[in-house]
Amino acid sequence: MKGYIKPSPVIILLGMLLLFACARDAKEENTNVPLYIRQPAHFPKPVYTFDNNPPTRSGFELGKRLFFDPILSLDQQVSCGTCHAASAAFADPRSTAVSKGVFGRSGLRNTPALANLIWYPHFNQDGGINHIEVQPVAPINDSLELGVGIANAVRILQNHPEYPGLFERAFDSDSVTAARILWAFAQFMGALVSDNAPIDAFHRDNKPLPEKAMRGKVIFDESCAGCHSGVLQTDFSFKNNGLNMGSNDIGRAEVTGNIQDEGRFRVPSLRNVEYTAPYMHHGQLNTLNDVIEAYSTSIAAHPNLDPNLPVGGFDFSSQQKEDLYQFLLQLSDQTFVNQSF
Ligand code: HEC
Ligand code: HEC
Repeated sequence: MKGYIKPSPVIILLGMLLLFACARDAKEENTNVPLYIRQPAHFPKPVYTFDNNPPTRSGFELGKRLFFDPILSLDQQVSCGTCHAASAAFADPRSTAVSKGVFGRSGLRNTPALANLIWYPHFNQDGGINHIEVQPVAPINDSLELGVGIANAVRILQNHPEYPGLFERAFDSDSVTAARILWAFAQFMGALVSDNAPIDAFHRDNKPLPEKAMRGKVIFDESCAGCHSGVLQTDFSFKNNGLNMGSNDIGRAEVTGNIQDEGRFRVPSLRNVEYTAPYMHHGQLNTLNDVIEAYSTSIAAHPNLDPNLPVGGFDFSSQQKEDLYQFLLQLSDQTFVNQSF
């Protein structure tokens, strides 16, 4: 062949050494390197610190695979990612009012967005679960969500041709256990950090928001931030906001049994709210403008209505509504929703 120079044995040897070195590098890439999870400087201290579950690349990859694998559903059709998709900020991309699980069964509540979960003191809209590592047990067991059951899930994964190897990589053991499944989920979900919205640039670097949104922020700080407070736009308390609109879900009372908690729901983070329609625990409001209109004109009297909310509504002017809307758009983290999984 023209230009072909026969390689000397030394070159072949060097080449083989190089190949060997590359193979080693590739192998090292596959071993369990620690995973760095961002803790933005303008956020508070996280609640979950991974103390007993140090995140690694392999643990995250395993959690990710489990999250998107319908193998953990009774009809083999639904995964966590069916209801929680990146494009919808990990809320339901199908925009159904309440979630739809195995065999097309309707759930009881609207699917919340997932982001910044290591800052959450409790989970679900009634706060019924208080630990990120426990949370996935609920959908795995729930016959309206995945329904496969955690014991069954362990067996299915243990008998799978690939999963035991992935557990080996992540946890140095190919024995699948419920704890290891839950650790992997916590590593994946805990890594879903959203800190790149215009509101972050505002808090972190003092970068001003657009003019209308700045005006909207003043209204928000006065009327909304009492509950939707701080960089996560929630104080994680349980409140009745007067917008239950005929839903007979008792919310927090489901957990505490207290009549004073009836109709109270956890104040949701509003991060990425632009992408998570429809809104409220029962998906009772379709658009952000519907939400703003409802806070303006439809706050209903209720024995547990929060005293900071005026019965009837805030009666915003159309300019105020537009400004509020523009402010809510500043909570959108496009990098976060455009990441591919
Ligand atoms: C059928 C749709 C559906 C599936 C499948 C599903 N979820 Fe959810 N998820 C929901 C709904 C609805 C809620 C809210 C439940 C509530 O408030 O009572 C929720 C809540 C959550 C929360 C708490 C969020 C918060 O704001 O407190 C996390 C975390 C979560 N899911 C993770 C998962 C994981 C992990 C899986 C897979 C093992 C999964 N989900 C499967 C619909 C779903
Ligand atoms: C007294 C506390 C409180 C105040 C004040 C308040 N909210 Fe809320 N907000 C809540 C609660 C609680 C929910 C969840 C209700 C539910 O799930 O049914 C909620 C839900 C929302 C949602 C839906 C989020 C989602 O993902 O479904 C939006 C948007 C929202 N509020 C915006 C606002 C705006 C804008 C204001 C000010 C005009 C405001 N809130 C004032 C407590 C409050």
